[in-house]
Amino acid sequence: MRILVTGGAGYIGSNLVDRLMAEGHEVYVIDNLSTGKISNIQHHLDSERFHFVNDNILNMTTMERLVQQVDMIYHLAAVVGVKYVVEDPLRGITVNVRGTETVLELAFKYWRKVLIASSSEIYGKSTNVPLSEDDDRILGSTSIGRWSYSDSKAIDEYFAFAYNKKGLPVVVVRYFNSYGPRLDPKGYGSVIAKFIGQALRGEPLTVLDDGQQTRCFTYIDDTVRGTILAATVPEAEGQVFNIGSNRETSILELAHLILKITGVSGEIQHIPYAQVYGTEFEETRRRVPDVRRAQEVLGFEADTPLEQGLQRTVEWFRAHRGAKEAL
Ligand SMILES: NC(=O)c1ccc[n+]([C@@H]2O[C@H](COP(=O)([O-])OP(=O)(O)OC[C@H]3O[C@@H](n4cnc5c(N)ncnc54)[C@H](O)[C@@H]3O)[C@@H](O)[C@H]2O)c1
Repeated sequence: MRILVTGGAGYIGSNLVDRLMAEGHEVYVIDNLSTGKISNIQHHLDSERFHFVNDNILNMTTMERLVQQVDMIYHLAAVVGVKYVVEDPLRGITVNVRGTETVLELAFKYWRKVLIASSSEIYGKSTNVPLSEDDDRILGSTSIGRWSYSDSKAIDEYFAFAYNKKGLPVVVVRYFNSYGPRLDPKGYGSVIAKFIGQALRGEPLTVLDDGQQTRCFTYIDDTVRGTILAATVPEAEGQVFNIGSNRETSILELAHLILKITGVSGEIQHIPYAQVYGTEFEETRRRVPDVRRAQEVLGFEADTPLEQGLQRTVEWFRAHRGAKEAL
């Protein structure tokens, strides 16, 4: 197939591109390299089956040309993660909402299947454990910047469902803290990149608050496998899926694991949230996906053990000098 990956030079996008190229597809990538890196896709640049366009997804002319050329679209380009969105809310909202609207509008015009990348941030402060796809969303005030990321992704989902109602084949995936090679140290799930960087530099690992808050970390190979299944299993069309592991790990436990895997006898330092994010920040203590729908419809399970995934991630950061320096 001819496949367009928006945000294909990013962390998840480039790992997805590797897999699609290995499967023999012709792959088109559009990325403005705002957080994506050319080094993530460098190894494909000479291939006749690979086409890279360095442009903004908000550029309608470029997007229209690309959408016409392909059979389907994986839409991953976004301003990703709480940190970037809190820094520049206007860019976050514009790219995440108008960008997705552009993709869906063109997909509808040329009738192309689309997978939309959404996020576990959708659930906001919900204390449900586990979080199932149809659960309520619980968000804070609009004066708290972090919730705009959740809302922008929710609008993306509404757009996706609205176009699906008109018959367009669309599927939505909500990622839960993906980690692995090429992880952006400032991006989503960055706590793993942050701890690995601190450990490799021999610095103390800085744990926010008491470290008892948990996340479900999902190795990139699982994230990519779940994404491709969602895009290809016909029964998935029109639905939304949690794509993540349901193994819950506290941030403190993660810090200890990374010290063990890197072989560093570093210390752990606890610091208050306010010191990093300011007093307006609101944190979610637990976030566990209900994985039943992905299991039942996609036959998907994130099965890479955390220790193994972390081992591979640490090896990658050790082997890539530039990446290590960026940590
Ligand atoms: N990493 C995670 O755990 C996680 C969790 C939830 C959701 N997601 C979603 O998955 C997708 C990929 O995230 P990622 O973690 O790989 O982040 P990333 O920042 O590495 O990837 C995003 C890519 O989009 C590109 N981009 C941003 N704005 C653009 C624009 N206007 N035009 C063209 N390209 C643009 C960036 O340069 C980058 O390469 C995003 O939609 C994100 O919201 C990721």
